[in-house]
Amino acid sequence: MSSISSNQRIVSGMRTTGKMHLGHYHGVIKNWLKLQHEYECLFFAADLHALTTHYENPEIVEQNVWEMIIDWLACGVNPGFCSIFIQSRVIEHAELHLLLSMNTPLSWLERVPTYKDQIQKLKERDLNTYGFLGYPVLMSADVLLYRASLVPVGEDQAPHLELIREIARRFNHFYGREPGFEQKAENAIDRMGKKNAKSYRELRRSYQEQGDHQALDIGRALIESQANLNMAERELLLGYVEGSAKMILSEPEMLLTSAPKLPGLDGQKMSKSYHNTIELRDDAETVTQKIKTMQTDPARIRRADPGDPEKCPVWGLHKIYSNTETKTWVEQGCRSAGIGCLECKQPLIDSINHELAPIREKVIEFKDNPNLVRHIVNEGVDKAREIAAETMQDVKQVMGLLYQ
Ligand code: TRP
Ligand code: SF4
Repeated sequence: MSSISSNQRIVSGMRTTGKMHLGHYHGVIKNWLKLQHEYECLFFAADLHALTTHYENPEIVEQNVWEMIIDWLACGVNPGFCSIFIQSRVIEHAELHLLLSMNTPLSWLERVPTYKDQIQKLKERDLNTYGFLGYPVLMSADVLLYRASLVPVGEDQAPHLELIREIARRFNHFYGREPGFEQKAENAIDRMGKKNAKSYRELRRSYQEQGDHQALDIGRALIESQANLNMAERELLLGYVEGSAKMILSEPEMLLTSAPKLPGLDGQKMSKSYHNTIELRDDAETVTQKIKTMQTDPARIRRADPGDPEKCPVWGLHKIYSNTETKTWVEQGCRSAGIGCLECKQPLIDSINHELAPIREKVIEFKDNPNLVRHIVNEGVDKAREIAAETMQDVKQVMGLLYQ
């Protein structure tokens, strides 16, 4: 735990709509394995998000929750370093989702690019529901509930992240005003010393009058660097630099995952909906079979035809799994028809099976010990609820819902 360098908090969730595959492993999980040592991390199984599309198949969601969590653990996501929980078990997600929905403009949700896109794409499901439109509001609740500063997601989630930030800003704008706030902020500014106070006021004006985002960033950095401000004063001034509102919910930053895209068996992105995945729980024989029948450069019809790795999804896997020597062997052998495709695939079969072997063993261990898994999740839920309850206290207070 000592390596956790900052007080930055990370939240990330994964929808429980299917089995985990290599795309998840390389795109998400390996990143989590690193992040858990660098930040305070909360990772959850997004069962409510799964229901926004799979409301007709709750059995799929239920089954995948436990399997997914077991897979995370088997991959090395470690409850000693992070919290692992189930979204619906922390009731505050639903509560904050409802409260945020009160002031989220419909037009913001309708213009999220994935919204109409998914309705079009997933034709076999009726997604013309209130819940599906609210998907990003629920996601906002997931993140804002923990006042996360960073959210690790892929490129496809960027519009959601932007919306989360807008929802937080709007919330603070409506509810972040409290009596005497301006006076308190002005007092805190004075405590920064003459020179810094002057810069702060100038930066604040640049941002508020001209929307100068650079000024906002510098202003924030200036506040962070003030040793003689306490936490509350700092929070106050972070809110004040943007407006006269206090920051009740903080705007998270997106942490883009730089993982290379893992091609599926047909060369498209690996995804359950394309039926082109290698699952984490596939046994060695299944992996072998899948790779052996995997698509190659269509121009290589016969063994004697030279090929072009750039047109072959198998090459995409080599880029991730193979060392320089093997990659050179593939490139030369393919272009000169010196090697056959089956030959070319063998090192991949070996690497993938080598990678999956220990995971498969761990999966069995955790499956044999359901009490341990339940215990891990219970602990994660407790930790998450502790943080969530604090935020909800503030949220309910400013929304006039704390009847005492
Ligand atoms: N929408 C995310 C996805 O499809 C899953 C998700 C739900 C999520 N809530 C989240 C990711 C909160 C990060 C943070 O991948
Ligand atoms: Fe693809 Fe390898 Fe066959 Fe070339 S030799 S087409 S890279 S599988």
